Amino acid sequence: MFVSRPAPARSILGSFMPHVISFINLKGGVAKTTTAVQLADTFAFMRQKKVLVLDLDPQTNATLALVGEERWEQADERGQTLAHLFLDLLNGTRNFNPERAIVRGASNLNTIPPEVFDQLPESAQYGRVDVLPSSIRLIDVQDRMQDIANRTNYSLSPMAVVQKYIGPLFGRYDYVLIDCPPNLGFITQNGLEVSDHYLIPTIPDRMSTYGIPQIAGKIDELRRDRDLKIRCLGVVVTKFQSNSSQHKQGLEHLPEYLRSAFAYTNEDTPPILNTVMPQTNASAEAMLFERDVRNYPVKYGSGAVAGQAAYKYGLDLAAEVQALLGDEDEA
Ligand SMILES: Nc1ncnc2c1ncn2[C@@H]1O[C@H](COP(=O)(O)OP(=O)(O)OP(=O)(O)O)[C@@H](O)[C@H]1O
Ligand SMILES: [Mg+2]
Repeated sequence: MFVSRPAPARSILGSFMPHVISFINLKGGVAKTTTAVQLADTFAFMRQKKVLVLDLDPQTNATLALVGEERWEQADERGQTLAHLFLDLLNGTRNFNPERAIVRGASNLNTIPPEVFDQLPESAQYGRVDVLPSSIRLIDVQDRMQDIANRTNYSLSPMAVVQKYIGPLFGRYDYVLIDCPPNLGFITQNGLEVSDHYLIPTIPDRMSTYGIPQIAGKIDELRRDRDLKIRCLGVVVTKFQSNSSQHKQGLEHLPEYLRSAFAYTNEDTPPILNTVMPQTNASAEAMLFERDVRNYPVKYGSGAVAGQAAYKYGLDLAAEVQALLGDEDEA
């Protein structure tokens, strides 16, 4: 069942170097989470990659889509969500333990018992999605983030919490995908701090693209002030309706809009990905963890004619992201 493959390259420090990507847009509802979750599934189950999903959004949508309500409730009750990491620092408690918090073998596509993962030989080729879950409690944390500096006697920046406590685990994965809330607050900045890249999913309309110049500007500022390496990997057009004249026009104007959005930053205009996510129920339904899905083509609707679009979106997006990152290790 498992095929051998050469071990991935290691850094001089001896750990793996994953690709870390944040999904970001100031507009809600543009399919950030849907895209992050499908990409995680595609990398894991169609490309045999090891993927960690970090859910930094108090809405917990990625968590619910990947681990389901029952396992999420258990994590929340045990105090093992990313919200609890921040709460520990704010309240002086020590409940959160990253090893215990990782939900291993997530996604309803996983068929390997979670306890088996750690016994598999390093050379075995298998995919998995692990999740560091979010919690609605992150809403309270958001307003108190400034206090983290005070509480740690200024030894820890409120932007560097994830870096310090979760960053050391990244070496086990090929990809770390970070689902961000629709804002650029401290919690989102924690994600940006550990990311090599950010991807901007956007519906091609005025409301959804409106905040892109702010994203470009703010990340440029953070890159300078905090000496970050993060770059925009690209813009991915989502929920595209081919019969909408607004979407068609939006798509036409997007290259020029991006050029001006990035003109005053220290990075090149990012590419608009060739892969476009069409508006289709199959994408929305695939986020329901409780559905009985059996395999990737069933989950992403390749069976129904209308659903083929969602299936193709995931595969094309994964291939395009891998090509942009120079990750040639294709299955
Ligand atoms: N291709 C699609 N076609 C139709 N509906 C979609 C598609 N992709 C996502 N949706 C639906 O659109 C809604 C928003 O998607 P999603 O939650 O991924 O957006 P988001 O950008 O993460 O939102 P938020 O900013 O609130 O986190 C959801 O109800 C989702 O099921
Ligand atoms: Mg979301």
